Amino acid sequence: MIAELGGQPDAVREQAAALLVDGFDGHPRGWRDLESATEEAAQVIRQGFAFAALADTRLLGWIGGLPEYEGRVWELHPLVVRREHRLRGVGRALVAAFEDEARRRGALTLFTLGTDDDGGQTSLAGVDLYEDVPRHIAELRDLGSGHPFLFYRRLGYVVTGCMPDANGPGRPDIYMSKPAGRERRTSAAPEQTPAER
Ligand SMILES: CC(C)(COP(=O)(O)OP(=O)(O)OC[C@H]1O[C@@H](n2cnc3c(N)ncnc32)[C@H](O)[C@@H]1OP(=O)(O)O)[C@@H](O)C(=O)NCCC(=O)NCCS
Repeated sequence: MIAELGGQPDAVREQAAALLVDGFDGHPRGWRDLESATEEAAQVIRQGFAFAALADTRLLGWIGGLPEYEGRVWELHPLVVRREHRLRGVGRALVAAFEDEARRRGALTLFTLGTDDDGGQTSLAGVDLYEDVPRHIAELRDLGSGHPFLFYRRLGYVVTGCMPDANGPGRPDIYMSKPAGRERRTSAAPEQTPAER
């Protein structure tokens, strides 16, 4: 069952914080303790929205959404699924709930910048991205550990950028986006200059 995290009893919200600490284990921008994870969950609920995947009172995973660019863009943050329940469709169901809610709130673009490559898991790690950013992005591949960008790609997200050295030298952040509407939009035509009219 997918339900709003904010409306859940304290016991479920405590599990949400614990999942952040456990699920992002080893991640430099992860949550080291329950206190910071509890504050993160509360902040996401305050500033945006969050959904929980539940089996009775057991939290299987949760997802948050945060508004950016005055609500035209909604960031998927955070997303975590309990380890023993991964690869069973829980993440997909949570992302679908995030997308529906962000769309309802007027999103044009859905994105995630949490897909850091902080452990040399992809071809973007340890290279000079400035040398040819589009080529490195076009040639992005997983180096065998199942980096989360593969998950997002399965769900229709595409790499729309990266931030070199976001997690330390040679450790970039990978930006992935998806149009919120069913149709992929094209860019608005540039305005014509008087000479062109
Ligand atoms: C990433 C994560 C949320 C995926 O959740 P999940 O419940 O295991 O994902 P699902 O079972 O819904 O997978 C949906 C699809 O993605 C694929 N997939 C999921 N994780 C994958 C991975 N690491 N590598 C390759 N494919 C993956 C699944 O095989 C499935 O494919 P399908 O289209 O053939 O069914 C989960 O692994 C997790 O919590 N990881 C730790 C935290 C994290 O990295 N969060 C995301 C970064 S912010």
